[in-house]
Amino acid sequence: MKSTVNGTSCEIDGDVHTSALDFLRSLGLTGCKEGCAEGECGACAVLVARPDEEGTRWTAINACLVPAPALAGQEVLTAEGLGSPTDLHPVQREMAERGGSQCGYCTPGFICSMAAEYYRPDRRAAHAGDDGHESEPPESGLTHAEQGPPVEEGENGFDLHALSGNLCRCTGYRPIRDAAFALGFPESGDTIAERRDSQAPRPEAIDVSDGTARYRRPESLAEALQVLQDAPETQVVAGCTDWGVEVGVGGKRATSMLAIDRLPELRRIDWSDERIELGAALTLSELERATTGRLPLLAELIPQFASRLIRNSATIGGNIGTGSPIGDAPPVLLALEASLVLASADDEREIPLAEYFTGYRQTVRRDDELITAVRIPLPLAPLTRFHKVAKRRFDDISSVAVAYALSVEDGVVARARIGLGGVAATPLRARETERALEGQPWSAETARAVSATLVAEGTPMDDHRASARYRSAMLGTSLERFFAETDETARDGRALPPGFRPTGRKAVSR
Ligand SMILES: Cc1cc2nc3c(=O)[nH]c(=O)nc-3n(C[C@H](O)[C@H](O)[C@H](O)COP(=O)(O)OP(=O)(O)OC[C@H]3O[C@@H](n4cnc5c(N)ncnc54)[C@H](O)[C@@H]3O)c2cc1C
Ligand code: FES
Ligand code: FES
Repeated sequence: MKSTVNGTSCEIDGDVHTSALDFLRSLGLTGCKEGCAEGECGACAVLVARPDEEGTRWTAINACLVPAPALAGQEVLTAEGLGSPTDLHPVQREMAERGGSQCGYCTPGFICSMAAEYYRPDRRAAHAGDDGHESEPPESGLTHAEQGPPVEEGENGFDLHALSGNLCRCTGYRPIRDAAFALGFPESGDTIAERRDSQAPRPEAIDVSDGTARYRRPESLAEALQVLQDAPETQVVAGCTDWGVEVGVGGKRATSMLAIDRLPELRRIDWSDERIELGAALTLSELERATTGRLPLLAELIPQFASRLIRNSATIGGNIGTGSPIGDAPPVLLALEASLVLASADDEREIPLAEYFTGYRQTVRRDDELITAVRIPLPLAPLTRFHKVAKRRFDDISSVAVAYALSVEDGVVARARIGLGGVAATPLRARETERALEGQPWSAETARAVSATLVAEGTPMDDHRASARYRSAMLGTSLERFFAETDETARDGRALPPGFRPTGRKAVSR
C-alpha cells in the first residue's frame, strides 16, 4: 500500500488505526503537528488531490483524523512539499514577510490551508480581468477607518473561511490575514497548479490487516454491503471527522473498518422535478459547491458547520449516521421533510428522517445497512432560515439548532415544517409549533404568541455546552427572530438593529 507524498512514493504499513498525521511524521515530515488530535486546531493540515468537476482540487484536511490507509493511492502535499527554505512557496513567503509566524507551531497547518485557497480553481480577484488576476480597484475615497470592519474576502478573492479551522495562539491573526490577502495567483510553470488540470487519483481498493484490525475500501456499493452482511459488527467510516476523534482522543479501536467515502454510488447528486437526491458520501464542501443557489437552507447551514478543514472531509451521511442529537444537518433536513435511503445486500428502503431517530444515538438503521442517499422533496418551501446557537460563530458544535421551512399564502401560513437539534435525545420536528402556525397570519403577533409553544418543544437538558433553561430560552427567541429576518421591511435592513446581518456571512468584527 503506497501513497505519493510530496512527489515521492511512500509505503504505508503498520497499525491500521495509525493516523495520517503519525504516518507523515514517521516519514520525517514533522512540519505537520499534533495540536489537539481532534480536528479543532488545524496544526496537522495537509493537502490531498481530490476529484473536482474540472480535474483535481487541492483540498486541505485534518491529518489527525484520517487513518493512514485512507491515503493509499492518493497524492499528498505537506508544507515541506510546497517550498523549501531557499525557494519559498508564495504562501510561505507572504507569511514570513508579513510576520504571520511567531513560535511557528501552527504555521505549517496555516500554510497548507492557505495553499488550498491559493490554488482554488474558482478564486477570482474582486476586480478580475479575464485571467482572474486583479486589475485596478476603483478608488473608494474612504480612509481605512471609514471603510469599517474588514471583509472576509480579500481583493484577491481569498476567502478567509479557508482558515477557519486553523488556530494560532501567538500572532493575533492580523498578519496572517494580511499574508492571505497579499497573495497573487499561481504563475505559469507552477507544477502544483498544473496538476489541477488532470484527473485526481482514483480511490484504490484496499483490504489490509495489521493482525488485530482490518481496513477495507471496496470498489462498489454491492461489495460494501456484502461486507456488512457477512460482518455486521464492522465499523463504517466515511470522512472520519467523528470516528477519528473516537480513535485519537477516545482510544477506540475497531477490529474491522469499512471505508465508504469514495464509493461512486454514494457520491452522486440527482435532480428531478419531484426531488433532489444527495449521495451520502458527499462532503459538506462538495455539497456546497454542487447545490449553490438551489438549496438555500443547506447553503445557510454549510458555512456554519465546523470549519473548512472539517467540511472538506465530513459527509452528510456521516452527520446522520453518527446519530448525534446536536448534528446540524438533521434539523435542516427535517424542515425539508427529507427521507433516507437505507440499503442492505438484500434490499433497499426509504425512511422519512422524522422516523429515523429512535433514542439517544439510536436509529432504525440495521447494522447490515448503509445510508446511501438523502432525498429532499420538491418544490422547496419559499421561506427558510437556519439558526445555530453556539458559543463561537464558526467551528463550534450547536447548543441549539432550529431550521424553518414555511409556505405563506396571502399572508397566512399554509405549511410549516420546523426541525430542532440540541433540545432532546434526538433531532426532532416541532410538530406542536407547526400546527400552531398553520392557518395563522404570518405576523409579529403570531410569531410572539406561538413562541410559547416552541419553548415547550423537546426535553432539553443541562450539559457542558448549555443549560436546559438556556436552550429553552433560545427556542423562545428563535421564532420572532425568524419573522424579523424574513419580514419584508426587515429584509431590506430598515427594521434591523445596526450591524445586524440576516445571513451573517460577509462582515466580521476584529
Ligand atoms: C472539530 C470538529 C467540529 C465539528 N463541528 C460540527 C458542526 O459544526 N456541526 C455538526 O453537525 N457536526 C460537527 N462535527 C461532527 C462531524 O464533523 C460530523 O458529524 C460529520 O458530518 C461526520 O461525517 P464523517 O463523514 O466524518 O463521519 P465519520 O466520522 O466517518 O462517521 C461517523 C459515524 O457515522 C457512521 N456513518 C458514516 N457514513 C455512514 C453511512 N453512509 N451510512 C451509515 N452510517 C454512516 C459511521 O459508522 C460513524 O459511526 C464536528 C467534528 C469535529 C471534529
Ligand atoms: S491536531 Fe489539531 S486539528 Fe489535527
Ligand atoms: S505562531 Fe505560535 S501558535 Fe501560531
